[in-house]
Amino acid sequence: MNLQSIKLTNFKNYRQQAVSLSARLNCFVGLNGMGKTNLLDAVYMLCLTRSHRNLPDKNLILHGEAFFRLEGQFQHDKEKSKIAIKYAAGQRKVVEQNGSAYERLADYIGRFPVVMIAPDDISLVQDGSEERRRFLDTTLSQIYPEYLQNLLLYNNLLKQRNALLKLFAEHRRFDPTLLEALDRQLPEPAKIIVEKRSAFAEHFVPLFQEFYSAIAGTDEPVSVELESNLGDRDFAAVLLENRDKDRALERTAAGPHRDDMRLNLRGQPIKKYASQGQLKSFLLALRLAQYELLRREKNLAPLLLLDDIFAKLDEQRVHQLMGLLIEREFGQIFITDTQRSRIESVVTAFPGKYRIFDVQNGEIVMSDE
Ligand SMILES: Nc1ncnc2c1ncn2[C@@H]1O[C@H](COP(=O)(O)OP(=O)(O)OP(=O)(O)O)[C@@H](O)[C@H]1O
Ligand SMILES: [Mg+2]
Repeated sequence: MNLQSIKLTNFKNYRQQAVSLSARLNCFVGLNGMGKTNLLDAVYMLCLTRSHRNLPDKNLILHGEAFFRLEGQFQHDKEKSKIAIKYAAGQRKVVEQNGSAYERLADYIGRFPVVMIAPDDISLVQDGSEERRRFLDTTLSQIYPEYLQNLLLYNNLLKQRNALLKLFAEHRRFDPTLLEALDRQLPEPAKIIVEKRSAFAEHFVPLFQEFYSAIAGTDEPVSVELESNLGDRDFAAVLLENRDKDRALERTAAGPHRDDMRLNLRGQPIKKYASQGQLKSFLLALRLAQYELLRREKNLAPLLLLDDIFAKLDEQRVHQLMGLLIEREFGQIFITDTQRSRIESVVTAFPGKYRIFDVQNGEIVMSDE
């Protein structure tokens, strides 16, 4: 599966840009602030219908304009699909395949799997549990359509429940029947979310450990553990038990929306004890394991977007990583860098076809292939 071409209209700092891509390796070179990350984000968006940093759609429109549009031509098993994503401020986002719109985004996501490795991956370690849940959700949503459907349903019910708890507090009034109606519906999607997350951990961890040793070149014990908020407890019983607490907090204290992942190195939290190099290797291994898991489950090589990762790695690790990518039969790869010389040394070692593009203030020109 690969993206043959992409067309951006009013997307971030791109007014109107079409790019014809290599099926294997695409490199984007340019100075800071020229639009390299934005281009990768457009590719990400074509696959997952949202931006990598989860920005609201209105922030993606070129300043001063009223809409954006992305178009991509994908090829998979000789079959071509033209995907278009359109968003106009204040309107519903539309995703079309060959001219017909999807009713539900959950039916689309996962068709063209993608993994992005970016400098802000550090938030997986440094920020709160939300980032780590997003990692789980982005992976599982691409594998199982029913995971995403149930996640959307769960989030919607949870939002209603929390709004209701707020309303009760505001009006100093409590109506258990309204709350019970929601509490009856929540456990079903929660069960599917919890099941898929724990099955994920089982398959993911060995892959992650394998990549970590390959990148770091050591056998230091690393682990990723799912921290299920409910554990073995029955969600319906927990909701009932927590009722007074939830009313006091004006939100739902327990449930899969509080799940987390514990990231450890030698049994200690990575956040507190890892050196910078260990941290980099850890994050890279997390993403490559995500890639490998998607590839296996979908029987299809996802697009791999490598944003600015060489700036953070020494030359030896860059070569090690590229070696790893080549040997593992990765699919189509997109790389950004500010330094042309670094990109040139990457492409000379690359056995397949490649293209190098120059990115300058929202304009892209092919400079080498
Ligand atoms: N909605 C928008 N409208 C117009 N410009 C935008 C919008 N959103 C972001 N930009 C601008 O896009 C520019 C390019 O950003 P991008 O992150 O792609 O740069 P980059 O080439 O990756 O740079 P770096 O090397 O620093 O990572 C920035 O100057 C940013 O202000
Ligand atoms: Mg960037």
